[in-house]
Amino acid sequence: FIPPSSGGAGGGVTAKDALGNDIQVSEFLSSHNPGDRTLAQGLKGDPTYVVVTEDKAIADYGINAICTHLGCVVPWNASENKFVCPCHGSQYNSQGKVVRGPAPLSLALVHADVTADDTLTFSQWTETDFRTDNDPWWT
Ligand code: FES
Repeated sequence: FIPPSSGGAGGGVTAKDALGNDIQVSEFLSSHNPGDRTLAQGLKGDPTYVVVTEDKAIADYGINAICTHLGCVVPWNASENKFVCPCHGSQYNSQGKVVRGPAPLSLALVHADVTADDTLTFSQWTETDFRTDNDPWWT
């Protein structure tokens, strides 16, 4: 028996909804549409977007919602298909890649994995950032 990780270095955390309940993936997908980006609680409690892909699955990455400028939580703007920071106007594309400053960097990524018991786990993304082909700035 291996107890679930409480989120230490390198370990994952179970994604929780706004009420603090574990996200149940099947239920989540039945109430969300392709292309949705939905805030959940992620690593270190950071607000993190769960991404629903166009074929209605959970993407294998989540997007940390904290603006890389001065730390505002960046809302998703579905009609513009991007994240737009309300504080100073930075913009990020649908994968969180910065497309307009003053934010200097893209939103951080995490891995998102659906577990056998229908929950979602976020864990650290230490590999190359697929949006920029650079090493992750957040590790
Ligand atoms: Fe987001 Fe300044 S904190 S643009």
